[in-house]
Amino acid sequence: MESLFVKILLISAFFAQTCHCRPSSPAIDDRDAVGNHPFDLLIFTQRWPITACYEWREHNKDHICGLPSPNIVWTIHGIWPTKINTIGPAFCNKSAIFDVSQLSSIESQLEEHWLNVEKNKPTDSLWEHEWLKHGTCAAETIEQLNTELKYFGQGLSWLEKYSVGSGFAAGGNIQPGLNYSLATLNKALYSFYGKDLAIECYHDSKTHLQILNEIRICFNKQLELTDCDGIVGLERQATRGGAGTIISNCNAAKPILYPDTVPKEYEMENNDVEPKAAYYSVVYEVSQSSNGQQGEESQVADEFVEVILV
Ligand SMILES: *[C@@H]1O[C@H](CO)[C@@H](O)[C@H](O)[C@H]1NC(C)=O
Ligand SMILES: *[C@@H]1O[C@H](CO)[C@@H](O)[C@H](O)[C@H]1NC(C)=O
Repeated sequence: MESLFVKILLISAFFAQTCHCRPSSPAIDDRDAVGNHPFDLLIFTQRWPITACYEWREHNKDHICGLPSPNIVWTIHGIWPTKINTIGPAFCNKSAIFDVSQLSSIESQLEEHWLNVEKNKPTDSLWEHEWLKHGTCAAETIEQLNTELKYFGQGLSWLEKYSVGSGFAAGGNIQPGLNYSLATLNKALYSFYGKDLAIECYHDSKTHLQILNEIRICFNKQLELTDCDGIVGLERQATRGGAGTIISNCNAAKPILYPDTVPKEYEMENNDVEPKAAYYSVVYEVSQSSNGQQGEESQVADEFVEVILV
C-alpha cells in the first residue's frame, strides 16, 4: 500500500471592504430587480468547539480559545443562505450595520450557544460577521429571519430542537474522545434527523488526523429540513459495501476523531500566515492511494475540497 497526500493550504484575506477574493460566482450578480440575491438552502452550521479551538490555535500559538463551560457542547456557527453549487450569496446589504443592542434580550443565550471560540476577538465579532455576511442575505427573502433578533433567535431555537449533541446521543451513543467511521456518524445523524446532513472534517496537515469539525443541517426556504445536497466542497461520496452515499469532505476510509480535549502542545512549523486577517480560508486536499489488497479500493483517487466559512 502506498499513499500520497498533497495538501495545499490557501488562506486569503477576506474583508468586506477590500475583498479581492470574493467568489465571483453568478449568484453574487444574479439579482432580481430589487436587489435580491437568490439562494436555495439555509445551511444551519453547528461546530464542535474543541476542533474550532484546535484549528484556531494551530494558526497561531498566541491564539486563545473561548470554550463552553462547564461542559463542551455543540455551538452555532451560523445560518448561511446558499445557492446550490455556488458559495454564497454573501454581504447582501452593504449599508447594513450590526447593532448588538438589538440582541440584548437573548445575548446571554448567544454567549453560551453562539459562542465565539476565537477569544482574541471581541465576543460579538462572530455575530457581527455572521449577520453582515449571511444574515443580510437571509433577511432579504425570509420574513422569519429579517431582523438581527429573528436571525439569531432562529439559530437558538434550531439548536434547541436539532442539536448535534442530541442527535449523536439518540442516534447511536456517539461520544467525544473516540474515533468513528464516517458511516457510523452518518447513520446516527440520519436516524435522528431523517435527512442527509453534511459532515465536515478538519484535516490536520501536521498530524494527518481528520477531526470532526462541523455538522451542517439544511433547511429549505420554508424552513423545513431538507437534504444537504449541492454544497460546494461537501459532495456525496459513495461508501464501501453499498451503504449509500454520505455528504462529507471526510475520508470514509480513515477514522474520524471526535476529540474531547484540545491538545496542549503546539509547535508552529509554518507560521508565515497572518491568521487574524484570514476571514476566508480554503483548504484543498488531494489524496491518492492505491491498495492492492481489496479490489474495490484499488487505485482510489479522492479529491477533497474543504471550504471553511468563518
Ligand atoms: C439594508 O440595511 C439598511 C440599514 O440597516 C436598511 O435600512 C435597509 O432597509 C436594508 N436594505 C435591504 C434591501 O434590506
Ligand atoms: C484515533 O485514530 C488515530 C489514527 O488512527 C489514532 O492515532 C488515535 O490514537 C485514535 N484515537 C483514539 C482516541 O482512539
